[in-house]
Amino acid sequence: MKPTDVLKNEHLEIKEMLSVLDKIVEKAALEQNVSIEDLVDILNFIRIFADKCHHGKEESILFPALENAGIPRYGGPIGVMLLEHEEGRRYVKAMNKAVEEYRGGSPNALEEFIENARNYISLLEQHIWKEDNILFNLADQYIPVEYQVEIMEKFRVFEEKEIGEEHEKQLRVLRRLVEAYAHV
Ligand SMILES: [Fe+2]
Ligand SMILES: [Fe+2]
Repeated sequence: MKPTDVLKNEHLEIKEMLSVLDKIVEKAALEQNVSIEDLVDILNFIRIFADKCHHGKEESILFPALENAGIPRYGGPIGVMLLEHEEGRRYVKAMNKAVEEYRGGSPNALEEFIENARNYISLLEQHIWKEDNILFNLADQYIPVEYQVEIMEKFRVFEEKEIGEEHEKQLRVLRRLVEAYAHV
């Protein structure tokens, strides 16, 4: 396995959660009602797994390695990816706020949540597409093989220090939700 394979596998897991979120959002739009507990689980997954664990490895390990390999940080794909991570964080913040307001009984909160969730899903889907099909090809081509081995070790240390047991825990949450919404 090379570093981009690890990240591509995580993309598959993130996309699975996006499709659960999409089902919940469309159901909520129809029924004007949603499980707060499931939304909280999804937002935790996004915060811990998608952002801290996955974007964390990209931002602190893969992107700097690409820069070292001669791909400039700004004015190219890395800069765009960083901006999109930031844009995603703004949608997540807005979704969190909307869930709290929905819990508090605010009448517009569900609409607010739905709009931000739809924006987040479409942002992340196209972001992942660009990484899988453009940026990661550059990484495979430009980062020397011996350095790719070092990156794998850096990923391992990052997981151990920053995420620990949460990685598996979040994947269990993903499995539960995929199952719960399988026939929705
Ligand atoms: Fe990314
Ligand atoms: Fe990614």
